[in-house]
Amino acid sequence: MSSCKEAMEFRFACKKFNKYKTIPSEILGEILEATLLSPSSFGMQPWRITVAQSQNVKDDLRKACWDQPQLSECSDVIIFTCENYLLKPGSDYVKERFMERGLDEEATDRYIEVYNNFITPKMAKEGCLEAWSEKQAYIAAANLMTCAASLKVDSCPIEGFEEDSVKKILDLDEDYSIALLVALGYRDQEQSKRHRLEPFDVVSFI
Ligand SMILES: Cc1cc2nc3c(=O)[nH]c(=O)nc-3n(C[C@H](O)[C@H](O)[C@H](O)COP(=O)(O)O)c2cc1C
Repeated sequence: MSSCKEAMEFRFACKKFNKYKTIPSEILGEILEATLLSPSSFGMQPWRITVAQSQNVKDDLRKACWDQPQLSECSDVIIFTCENYLLKPGSDYVKERFMERGLDEEATDRYIEVYNNFITPKMAKEGCLEAWSEKQAYIAAANLMTCAASLKVDSCPIEGFEEDSVKKILDLDEDYSIALLVALGYRDQEQSKRHRLEPFDVVSFI
C-alpha cells in the first residue's frame, strides 16, 4: 500500500498493457472490495460491476470500444453498468436501501419522500436518471483506479464505447445503461507525460 498521493502519481491512462501479465485474484479482490466502499447519493448504489477476464469477451469489448487495444491486452476489464429501473419511487429496492439504515418508521418514510421528490423530476426528463446513476458509477471508478494504483496495478478509464454493442455483449436490455469501462493490468510502456492546469487556474478559496 502506498500513500494516496503516491497512488495518484503512479496512475496514468495506460494505453499499452503487458498482455501476458494477469492480476492475481487476491489483488483484484482487494481492488473490488475497496470500490464497493464508495459513496453514492442517498446510498442507492445504482451501479453494478462485471469483470471481463476471458480473452474472447475482451476481444469483443475491444470491437465495441472503438477498437482500442487496451481492452484486449489488459488483464481485466471492469464494466460499470447501472440498474436504473431499481431506482423508481416505490420500488422494493429503494425501500430496502432506506430500511437498512435502521431508522424508525416515521423517519424512514420521511427519507423516502425526500428521495421521491428528488428522483421524480429526473425520471421525467429523458436520460436524466441514467446520468444520475452514471455519476455515482464514476465516483466508484475513480476509487477503483486509485486503489489499483496503490497496489501498483495500472488502469485506463474508457468512455469511448458503443453502448448498444457493450449491452449486447453483456446481454442487457433497455432497463440498464453502461456508465464506463476500466481496463486493468500492468503497463508495457513508459508513464506518459502529465498535462494539468496550474492549481491557481483550478482552485479558489472564498
Ligand atoms: C471518464 C473518462 C473516460 C476516458 N475515456 C478514455 C478512452 O476511451 N480511451 C482512452 O485511451 N483514454 C480515456 N480516458 C483517459 C484520458 O484521456 C486521460 O485520463 C487524460 O488524458 C489525462 O491523462 P492521465 O490519465 O494519463 O493523467 C478517459 C478518462 C476519463 C476520466
